[in-house]
Amino acid sequence: MVEELEESLVFIKPDAVAKRYVGEILHRFEAAELEIVQLKQIVIDATLADQHYAEHVHKSFYPSLKDFITSGPVVVIVLRGARAVARIRALCGATDPSEAEPGSIRSDFGVSMTENAIHASDSVDSARREIANFSAFF
Ligand code: PPS
Repeated sequence: MVEELEESLVFIKPDAVAKRYVGEILHRFEAAELEIVQLKQIVIDATLADQHYAEHVHKSFYPSLKDFITSGPVVVIVLRGARAVARIRALCGATDPSEAEPGSIRSDFGVSMTENAIHASDSVDSARREIANFSAFF
């Protein structure tokens, strides 16, 4: 039986881009046999931030998240592979770097709930919506 491949929308956040962790993070995905389908460095504007984080816009942390995510370049990537969504989430680790599994991207490179190095889609449905949000850049 041929396993169906999934796609996920990932972006390396402004903190990790500024600290030059892009190459190391990409290496982890490639080493996990995830295929890079799209890759681009962009700056997320206010409209795209509100669209991408639609489920969080009314939360108390959103103003600082929005300031941060629009503050500098991010590297947006579409990755493809078997069980890509769950495997990428595992490579990223928990949202809070202090609770992320040792050796995960957020444990190694994140510093806070906001500056946590990376975003990755949390489901196949979210991935479809998020890839569509960023499609103008690819
Ligand atoms: S939650 O608690 O279920 O809303 O968290 P989660 O869905 O895992 O991720 C929320 C995204 O918002 C960013 N963020 C914060 N989350 C929780 N608390 C605080 N204070 C906070 N500040 C920022 C967090 O990094 C998640 O971003 P993404 O890009 O989805 O990983």
